[in-house]
Formats: sequence, structure tokens, C-alpha cells
Amino acid sequence: MKFQINELSVITDGNKEAKPILFIHGFPYDHTMWKKQINLFSSSHYCISYDVRGFGESINFDGQHTMELFVDDLEKIIEEMKLEKPVVCGLSMGGYITLRALERFQNKFSAAILCDTRSQADDNQGKLKRAAAIKRINSEGHKEFVKEFISNCFGDYFKQNFPDELNSIIEHSQNFESKGIKGGLLAMLSRTDTTSFLEKIEIPTLLVCGKNDTLTPPSVMKDMYHKIKNAEYVEIQNAGHMSPIENPDEVNSAITKFLKRIGY
Ligand code: MLT
Repeated sequence: MKFQINELSVITDGNKEAKPILFIHGFPYDHTMWKKQINLFSSSHYCISYDVRGFGESINFDGQHTMELFVDDLEKIIEEMKLEKPVVCGLSMGGYITLRALERFQNKFSAAILCDTRSQADDNQGKLKRAAAIKRINSEGHKEFVKEFISNCFGDYFKQNFPDELNSIIEHSQNFESKGIKGGLLAMLSRTDTTSFLEKIEIPTLLVCGKNDTLTPPSVMKDMYHKIKNAEYVEIQNAGHMSPIENPDEVNSAITKFLKRIGY
């Protein structure tokens, strides 16, 4: 089913009475990045995915976006849909949203799955890189930027073995609006650092990282893992930054084991 909450495009799959899992995509993608997970988990769980403000079909916005707005949107979806303590699963930018949401209202979740993400805010070099990307999009549009950014996310194995799938992911994201892409960049460059909160996470947490992720590498995610009390860490073979797309079997198996362990 597809509907709108707060002008955000929300998609549900599976039985409404089953336990909910809420998926939050990375930058610059939309809810479709989770299709290989939703195909599996919708047979056992109620899967909710949505397009973050400015991405996919959530386009009725001005592009002046912050992480706080993204988290407000997530809270609104949970409230409007009356979701009973979902498991939240976010990748990279979706992980930034998840971590800040945990900091604001972790009691609204049963557990968290953090894929290929980090708790640190952008350093100066990172902020300047985002600023340069916004400037570039202002002068030449977003299509080339999106192509280069997405190509950098994927590891060599996927690039060599699934070039058509990679191209269709790039083309899909190239159809988004420039102002949404720039809004995502603004939100990420101005986000707060959630590292000091990691030790205060009380809910079970699974961390998943592609072995060849160069954007949020295993060393970064292992550091996070050591700071979270009730955490599990799984490294995914033959995968870069987009592990749920690049190696869905291993990611799905890690999530399945985690859900089983926490009885969800
Ligand atoms: C993402 O996949 O969401 C991005 O790599 C996040 C970022 O650029 O920091």
C-alpha cells in the first residue's frame, strides 16, 4: 500500500497485524533501496518504508532541510500509523536519522539496525565537500553529481557483476529533484554528533557494515559497536557502502538472526 503522511510518500508491505520494521534509506536513494529486504521480511513482518523529505516521491518541500526535520517526519509517521515500538533500520543518512531519533525518543523503538553509517558529524573537510557539491549542483544540475556519488558507494564486486543494476539505480536517483538532493546535503552537513549518546542506547542494536565500505568503513562501525551496550556487529563480504543491495543474502541473514535473538 502507498499513501502520504505529512506529504511524505509511505509504503507498506506485509500483514498490518505483524510486528513492524521501519526502513530508512540513504543518500541519494529512496525507499526502493530496501526492496531485497522487504521482499523477504514482508512475509513475517509489517514492513514500512518511506521516501525521506526531498527524495523519491516526497517532493513537495522547499529544500531547506535539517536532520531535525527528518527526525520530526519519522516521529510523525510512527504517531500517525500508531506503530507499536517498531524495529528501525537505517542505512547511512538513514542511520543518521535513526541515531538522532534514538537520542530524542528511543523508548518508541524495540530495537535498531544500523547499516553502513556513523555517529560522528561532518568534520570541516566534510562540510566543505558538501558545500562544493551544492555549488556544483547550482551550476550544472544534480545528474553528474548523483552518478559519481552513487558509483563511489558501491564496491568493485557489485560494479563488475551487476553493471545494469547499478545503472538503473543511478538513473532512478537522477530523476529526483535538485532541491531535494541539496536539502539532503544541507541536513547532513549541519547534523549534530551522536557519538556521546551511543553508550546511552538501551535497546538491542545490530550494526551491519560492508567489508569494502570506504565511506563508513568497518573500523568506524566497530568503534560504534564497542560503545553500544547490547550490540551485535556483522561484516558483509563482497559489499561496499550499500550492503543491503550488494549482498542482500548476508544482510538478510544477519537481520533474521538478530530478530530471532531478540524474539521479534
Ligand atoms: C549515504 O549513503 O546516505 C551517504 O553516503 C551519507 C553521507 O554522505 O554522509
